[in-house]
Amino acid sequence: MTRYAHITGWGMAVPEKVLTNHELSEMVETNDEWIISRTGIRERRIASDEESTATLAIDAAIQALEVANLPPNKLNLIIVSTSSPEYQFPATACLVQDRLGALNAGAFDLSAACSGFIYALDMATQAIRSGSIRNALVIGSETLSRFVNWKDRETCILFGDGAGAFVLQASEEPGGLLSAILRSDGSGGNSLSVPAGGSRLPASANTVAQGLHYIQMNGREVFRFATRVMAHASQEAVEAAQLKMEDIDLIIPHQANQRIIEAAARGLNFPMERVVVNVDKYGNTSTASIPIATCEAVQNSRLHPGNRAILVGFGAGLTWGAAVIQWTGPIGGRKIVRPTSLRVWAKFRSFFRRLIRMI
Ligand code: ACO
Repeated sequence: MTRYAHITGWGMAVPEKVLTNHELSEMVETNDEWIISRTGIRERRIASDEESTATLAIDAAIQALEVANLPPNKLNLIIVSTSSPEYQFPATACLVQDRLGALNAGAFDLSAACSGFIYALDMATQAIRSGSIRNALVIGSETLSRFVNWKDRETCILFGDGAGAFVLQASEEPGGLLSAILRSDGSGGNSLSVPAGGSRLPASANTVAQGLHYIQMNGREVFRFATRVMAHASQEAVEAAQLKMEDIDLIIPHQANQRIIEAAARGLNFPMERVVVNVDKYGNTSTASIPIATCEAVQNSRLHPGNRAILVGFGAGLTWGAAVIQWTGPIGGRKIVRPTSLRVWAKFRSFFRRLIRMI
């Protein structure tokens, strides 16, 4: 029997602190007009000292579980897509697993930069379709503000922090993720990277002095690459789903730059009114941007059960990918997931386990 992976829950979390273009223009030589005309970004969110990639991921995940009305112990798999993990190890996904009390879930991080959420969605979908699991939680979470050089005007204007999450559940009804195209080209890796802090260039006083622990980017090259691949990948994903562009209701692209999004829509001959754009509010939240934009599309009644949407992204690696989804919506039933008690119980359980381990 064919199995499908339906998206039954969704959630997002962004820090409260807003950093506007005007505030940025007091930090580096830039201005609101330049940033808006070149990128479409007006403001972005920046994590406070108490917030991190894991805390944002957990907040988004709890919302998604509440919408899906799925208790955490029913999860079989947690994937956190991130380029700004909490630590080298343990995986951020394990911190999320602990804070949710997802006692029956495997957990790992996935690194494919801004394309990561599409990669993670496909990995979770394949696990569900193969029959090896029933329920998965896929999260995209970033605090790239911690890796940005706040003196580099070419990168610091672009990025923001946030997280988005989907719950995926097995069903025999057709729907959910219908197709996915994943691509990479490592020959372009140096166009966008954090050179130091890995095994090639371990962190040292020298790497810090040279600023090699910050994001380095060749903006023009990334721009050219992005405009080349977005439309093509979308078309490939639509064909793989055995559909036509006329069957697509909405495009939810990675939110990096308004001009890149418009170029992709032009390339597909798709009206901008049916493309979700919120880059003006959050900047580029990397792998979190597609699930955040999806959550807002649902909130704003732009995505309804039965609608088909293209999710498409590109990023460091270089990586890119596109997926076609058929939106399901929540399954309903008696409410059994309550966020406050979920948080309290998971915290208590985690404390108790640590205590037993100590003893
Ligand atoms: N404010 C004012 N002027 C600036 C700024 C700034 N913040 N940044 C650059 N400039 C100047 C440059 O120095 C240059 O001046 P010059 O002509 O005297 O040399 C001029 O503006 C034009 O610079 P360009 O780089 O040509 O500007 P461009 O129109 O290409 O826009 C941008 C730059 C916004 C970075 C664009 O190239 C872009 O969006 N690229 C894609 C970046 C991206 O999406 N990265 C994320 C990938 S996803 C991931 O994996 C994380």
